[in-house]
Amino acid sequence: MVPILPPSPENNRRAAEALRRGELVALPTETVYGLAGDALNPAALSRIFEVKQRPFFDPLIVHIADRAWVGKLCVRVSDQAQALMDHFWPGPLTLALPKTDRVPDLATSGLSTVALRMPSHPVALALLRETGIPLAAPSANPFGGLSPTAAEHVAAAFTEGIDCILDGGPCAVGVESTVLGWENDEPILLRAGGIPVEDIETVLKKKIASTATVGGAHEERPLPSPTAPGQLPSHYAPRTPLILWDPESPVMLSRAGLLWFGDQKPPEGFGVVENLSPGSDLREAAAHLFAALHRLDALGLDRIDARLVPEIGLGRAINDRLRRAAHLDTSA
Ligand code: TXA
Ligand code: MG
Repeated sequence: MVPILPPSPENNRRAAEALRRGELVALPTETVYGLAGDALNPAALSRIFEVKQRPFFDPLIVHIADRAWVGKLCVRVSDQAQALMDHFWPGPLTLALPKTDRVPDLATSGLSTVALRMPSHPVALALLRETGIPLAAPSANPFGGLSPTAAEHVAAAFTEGIDCILDGGPCAVGVESTVLGWENDEPILLRAGGIPVEDIETVLKKKIASTATVGGAHEERPLPSPTAPGQLPSHYAPRTPLILWDPESPVMLSRAGLLWFGDQKPPEGFGVVENLSPGSDLREAAAHLFAALHRLDALGLDRIDARLVPEIGLGRAINDRLRRAAHLDTSA
């Protein structure tokens, strides 16, 4: 059993000490819970991959609480990157920037860029400050599974390999950070997430291309992909088979669950219905997404039908997670 600890100065110190020893701690962020380890310690990094059973070609996000680390971890910070940090940090925006030698190759899977983010959750910031080192933290779920948005989700997924889980309550944003990189000095969206791409376009005053839409929306990409290895089609999946709800196809299973959105009456025939936001609020829907999927997944249903939400703002991140969850047939 991994202990779940309420936030307190004492628990913060305990967690920081464990991290400095090279152990792992699960920490709350505003997006999802992270499985954190010392980003500058290759032994701690390899532990993250091992505990999460994550392939080494999928690089980690490095979390900082202090902008002074940017200069130590990145060789060059463009004006665009600077403007985005000024505007969105702390918050759910991750920037892939050219890395210095201080960042172990294990953190970046050998890429020349490091993904940096400053979370806004007070418990994450307090732990980063207490530890005094950048923390690499992927979402605290076994590779390919549903992301955790509550301490209990983490405890259910891991029974060993983590010193403790700091409980920061349910995650307010509920989908992972937006990941942005640059190719030939042009910004490129690598993962839709908690900061809507429209908001980034407003700050940069330009349209942003997306790797997810290159060559047709959400096509299967060869693995591993060179610039965004985490764009795996079968991410974020429950164990129960998930399909995208289609109004044309009849429900033939009695043991099917429905993930619904909005004030329209849900179709008949589903054993259980979860509505992400009866008031059609995409922020609320994002915050509820993974907890609703965890609940449905725990029911032992034959199938989950998920309704896509409007493809705007946070809706892009929600639909991206649903499409990838639906992509999986069984094993991965
Ligand atoms: O909200 C979040 O970002 C959460 C919390 C814990 O901070 N973390 C998270 O980490 O979602 P993870 O490991 O589940 O997802 C990291 C994503 C992956 O898609 C990975 O491929 C991408 O970031 N990534 C990491 N480093 C990269 C890099 N240098 N270039 C491009 N993509 C990178
Ligand atoms: Mg993840």
